[in-house]
Amino acid sequence: MRWDTKSAFRRSNDRSERTEPRPVTSPLGPYGDRVLVTSRSFEEYVAFFDLDDEALGGRILDCAAGASGFAATLAARGGQVTAVDSAYTDAPVLLEQAALARADGDAMIDSNDHRFVWDWYGCHEHRRTLRASALDAFTADFARSPGRYLPGRLAELPFIDGTFDLALCSHLLFTWSDVLDEQWHERALRELLRVATEVRVFPLVLKGTGAPVSFLPALVDALRGEGHTVDVVPVPYEFQVDTHDMLRLRRRRARWPVRSDPHRRRPKRRREDSEGDPRRADRGGPAGPVGRDVHRAH
Ligand SMILES: C[S@@+](CC[C@H](N)C(=O)[O-])C[C@H]1O[C@@H](n2cnc3c(N)ncnc32)[C@H](O)[C@@H]1O
Repeated sequence: MRWDTKSAFRRSNDRSERTEPRPVTSPLGPYGDRVLVTSRSFEEYVAFFDLDDEALGGRILDCAAGASGFAATLAARGGQVTAVDSAYTDAPVLLEQAALARADGDAMIDSNDHRFVWDWYGCHEHRRTLRASALDAFTADFARSPGRYLPGRLAELPFIDGTFDLALCSHLLFTWSDVLDEQWHERALRELLRVATEVRVFPLVLKGTGAPVSFLPALVDALRGEGHTVDVVPVPYEFQVDTHDMLRLRRRRARWPVRSDPHRRRPKRRREDSEGDPRRADRGGPAGPVGRDVHRAH
């Protein structure tokens, strides 16, 4: 089947038969204005999410993409990628915010050098160059290919179920957990799992201090309890000291096709079926290897 995000976007809206735009329900302002619009590069994303060629070859969603150069670079390499962000409703404000965030980020890092390790970047100059070229790549592609950049706001995305193989979330979830609460995170992760088979989130700590997010272990347990596979996985990137794990979630596989006829009865479960039920197999709980990783990460 040919993949077409634009028509998936349209079909999603058709399905809900809305005639008015969706209301903005996020705890943030209409442009997510308490969250900086940053511009990380393709190279940084590859490291944050430990992306190999197989992962990069799928249908990818970058959410929330901000002014990142990931989608522009991947598309130029022939990848299938869509970027979503709540700030895509107003291009001039977005670009102004991105330029400000870049200057602010550089200044914050210069004055908090002890909080960072430079092994991955090598030096300040290389980091600055990556961010500058990412912003340039984004700006050019945003103007050239507007259909790749869709306005959207977690925790409700404008796509039908399973539109993507992989959703990437860099520096929104957990990073801004002083602004976005536990309930919002839970809804946001479920929504990402609805539109993508696999979801990867980096980093898992609060911005600035790098403090652990207190509700992360409970969130992992809740999603595991629903049968999703949830792992905390080390990645080949560390910048904030001791911050080198991503959250990887794989959606529970549906055992039965969605029923269109509400009167049709569900097939009876056989004994061997329930033994092979992935919802049972994946319930490792906090004592399982993943649970240990969650505690190690903090
Ligand atoms: C810190 S930036 C990260 C941008 C990019 N992923 C990166 O790593 O450079 C966070 C982004 O989240 C967007 N944002 C804030 N709240 C959002 C929401 N509820 N849904 C979607 N995007 C949101 C902001 O507009 C901003 O661009």
